[in-house]
Amino acid sequence: MPEIIAVANSKGGVAKTTSCIGLGCALADTGKKTLLIDLDHQGNLSDDLGRGDEDYTITDLFENPKFDTNDLIYAALDDGQEVENLFVIPADITLAVECRSAERYAHRLEILSDGLKRLKTSFDFIIIDCRPAIDLSIENALLIADKILIPVDMDKRATKGISDLLEVVEEIKRTKDFVYSLVYTKVDKRSSKMLASVKSTVENSGWPVCKTEIRISELYKQATNDDRPSFHYARKDRPAEDYAGLAREILEG
Ligand SMILES: Nc1ncnc2c1ncn2[C@@H]1O[C@H](COP(=O)(O)OP(=O)(O)OP(=O)(O)O)[C@@H](O)[C@H]1O
Ligand SMILES: [Mg+2]
Repeated sequence: MPEIIAVANSKGGVAKTTSCIGLGCALADTGKKTLLIDLDHQGNLSDDLGRGDEDYTITDLFENPKFDTNDLIYAALDDGQEVENLFVIPADITLAVECRSAERYAHRLEILSDGLKRLKTSFDFIIIDCRPAIDLSIENALLIADKILIPVDMDKRATKGISDLLEVVEEIKRTKDFVYSLVYTKVDKRSSKMLASVKSTVENSGWPVCKTEIRISELYKQATNDDRPSFHYARKDRPAEDYAGLAREILEG
């Protein structure tokens, strides 16, 4: 059985997509067969993995819950070359509309779960990039996640919405007993006041946090124009080192 990780936060721009890619590439580097699922109609994850323009996308599954999920899987690309052990189910703009129409299905919350059960390939990890909102597709992801990873960036509104997200998870999973962890992203040691303020709010809330922090990088800020995975584009940069550390932390459990 794969370990399923949903990367979620209803705050935008906190590095959800970057973290899916970084963690996915780092796990694939260690030989773990990893599937990344794009659940954002913006399709940023798909674009960065060279799969922004495919025949089939995750929309096909929400449109027709019996769709053969095996047809949705593509090898992730870096500059046209397949990345070993890394695969993607892409998304595009059509997801926004189809997701709303899937509300009519009785088993609407299990569309993704049932679809993934039909996969013929066995993966070690499935990582899901959630859009910054809660809709049916995101509820599907939160329901099946073994672990929810919540990226938190260094911003004065960093922790806004986390309590609400956790409440939604509790409601969907019908238990308070689920595994989640925050991960600090875009950490800039030079902004020590902001860092201290975010960390103190998190500590006071008692939320678990990953030991590994993802540091800020100029290259990451500039990346994405050429639709390459940042982890590979800036392989020697600090975040790549950090995502490798995060992958180790997750592998160690
Ligand atoms: N470690 C980092 N250092 C510098 N910039 C970063 C870092 N991680 C991510 N970024 C930049 O932050 C921006 C937002 O990142 P990303 O798209 O991953 O966020 P997101 O949470 O997925 O956004 P959305 O909510 O729109 O889906 C991007 O421009 C990305 O390049
Ligand atoms: Mg994103």
